[in-house]
Amino acid sequence: MQQERKFMEGLCRERNIDLEGLRFLLSTEDEKIIAELAKRARETAQSIYGKKVYIRGLIEFTNHCKNDCLYCGIRRSNCNADRYRLTKEQILSCCETGYGLGFRTFVLQGGEDPYFTDERICALVSAMKSSYPDCAVTLSIGEKSRESYQAYFDAGADRFLLRHETANKEHYRKLHPPEMSLENRKRCLRDLKEIGYQTGCGFMVGSPYQTIETIYEDLMFIRELKPEMVGIGPFIPQQDTPFGNQKAGTLQMTLRLLSIIRLMHPHVLLPSTTALGTIHPQGREMGILAGANVVMPNLSPVDVREKYRLYDNKICTGDEAAECRYCMQKRMENIGYEVVTERGDYIQ
Ligand code: 5AD
Ligand code: FES
Repeated sequence: MQQERKFMEGLCRERNIDLEGLRFLLSTEDEKIIAELAKRARETAQSIYGKKVYIRGLIEFTNHCKNDCLYCGIRRSNCNADRYRLTKEQILSCCETGYGLGFRTFVLQGGEDPYFTDERICALVSAMKSSYPDCAVTLSIGEKSRESYQAYFDAGADRFLLRHETANKEHYRKLHPPEMSLENRKRCLRDLKEIGYQTGCGFMVGSPYQTIETIYEDLMFIRELKPEMVGIGPFIPQQDTPFGNQKAGTLQMTLRLLSIIRLMHPHVLLPSTTALGTIHPQGREMGILAGANVVMPNLSPVDVREKYRLYDNKICTGDEAAECRYCMQKRMENIGYEVVTERGDYIQ
C-alpha cells in the first residue's frame, strides 16, 4: 500500500512516473486505485479547463496513401480499400456545415497522398482561413519536409497532429515498412514545434509488440517533446492488414494511460477518440471522465465515411455531421460536461 501511494503521489506532485510505477498502475486490479487515478486526472483537467469539452470537426479528405504502415486500413497495399479524394469545394462545404454547427477548429486529416501537393494544401488552408478567420486549422497529413511544414504554417495552419506511434526504434520497425523510420518521425515533430505549430504526438494503446517498456519510452518521449496535444486510442485490427488477426487494445489500458498523461501534463489537449468509442459504447464518455478534454466528431460527407477505414467497426459512419454533433453534446451532458464552441487553444 505504501508503495502504491508513492506512485500516485509522484504522478500528482512531481508529474512523473518511473517504469515500476507505470507497471503497477497499468496492471493493478485494485478498484480503489483505478478509480482514484481517474478521479485525480479528471480533477486536474477540471482545474484548468473546467467541465468544458472542446470539439474539433474532423474532415477525412483523402484515403490515398503512399505509406504502408502495417496496422492501417488505408495502407497502399490494401487493394480492398475504395479510394477517394474530396475536392476543394467539398472540403469547404464541410467547413460551412461545421461552422453552422459551432465548430471553430477544422482538422484536415488524410493519408500521405501525393496528389495533395504543398501548393494544393496551402491553397486549401488559405481558403479555409479566409472564409473562417475565427477558426483554427489543424493538419494531420503525415511526414513532410521542414520546408513543406513551414509553407503550410505560412498559409495559416495553426496546429499539426502527427502521432509518433511508438518511441522505441525496434517497435517502430515492426509497425512500419522499412522505408520509414522513427528518426524521421521525431525530426518531423521537432520541426513542427520549432516552426510554431501547436503540435500533437501520440500512439495506439495495445498495438502489436507493444510492452510496458515501450509505453514507458512513449511517456518519456512526450515529456521531452512537450506537445500541446496528445492523441491516444486503442489499436483496433483492420481485416485487410497484416495485423488483421491481432488483439485490440483494451478500454482499461487506454483509460489509465489517458489519466497518466493528464497527470503528467496537466494542460495538454487530450482527445477521447473515436477508436475508444468503437471498442465500448460509452468509451468516449469514460475517456472524458479519465481526464480527456477534447472530442473530434466527424464532418466528412457520409458517402465517404465508410471508406476511411483505418480500423474495423468504426462508429458514426452512417451519421450526418449534425447528428454526430448533437449526439456528442448529449453524451457529454449525460456525464455533466458541456461541449463548447470555443477554438480551444492550449492554455499555457
Ligand atoms: N487502430 C487504431 N488506430 C489506428 N490508427 C491507424 N490505424 C489504426 C488502427 N488499426 C491511428 C494511428 C494514426 C491515426 C490517424 O490513426 O495512430 O496516427
Ligand atoms: Fe457520431 Fe454519436 S457521435 S453518432
